[in-house]
Amino acid sequence: MEAPTLSHNLSRCFPTADIAWHDMGACWPGTGVGKVLRALDDGSVRSAVVRFPKGQVSTPVDAAPATIQGYVVSGSSKLGNIDLQQDGFFVIPTGAPVPAITSDTGAELVVIFDNAKTAKPSSAQPVILSTAYDVEPIVPVIDGTRLDGFARRVLWQDPDTGADTRLLTVPGGFEGKGPNWHPVHEEIFCLKGDIGPDDTRLMTPGSYLHNPAFGVHGYHEHSNAGATILEWHDGQWEINFTS
Ligand SMILES: [Fe+2]
Repeated sequence: MEAPTLSHNLSRCFPTADIAWHDMGACWPGTGVGKVLRALDDGSVRSAVVRFPKGQVSTPVDAAPATIQGYVVSGSSKLGNIDLQQDGFFVIPTGAPVPAITSDTGAELVVIFDNAKTAKPSSAQPVILSTAYDVEPIVPVIDGTRLDGFARRVLWQDPDTGADTRLLTVPGGFEGKGPNWHPVHEEIFCLKGDIGPDDTRLMTPGSYLHNPAFGVHGYHEHSNAGATILEWHDGQWEINFTS
């Protein structure tokens, strides 16, 4: 296979506390305000933190124009009549009905939108988890090394594209194996603890990281106290080290 062209230093990492809230009604009618994490080249929102105010009811949709995923980062909410606690998670595949979201407490969700302009019919079934921690964790094996102390929960994998979303717990004192890349876009939202992609940046709760496809990153991945992160990819993930 021909060697892919790799890019360097294109990862974006920032605390969401620095972003202003915007109206998200164009993305999801009836929701509150949001902070865009990543927009695609055509301007459509790929990922955002969306605030669902107490008492507000999002507009139900007969058929999702593209797959939507949501993870409750604070508060609690309901998708239709199903409770989503803090750390609840859902996937509504392309074409499936999107129930109303409500919240008695007010809630903030990380929401991941597939692109409606390129969406194809989906063979996936909806997923609703009251808490993502109900998913049985596995210990990842990277490059033949079993990562004891890690817990990877695969919350969903798209049966058509291999794209997945994971909840990953990293132990304190973690040191990565060095620069690496993936053939797919990787996005990360820090939920707990601290984790750094290199020596210049340290993610804390609310921090976001985008590693573009074929972008070398992870020059010095490390965690001091341990971390829990939500991580999602837009295709089949694999890791390739540069040395
Ligand atoms: Fe990565």
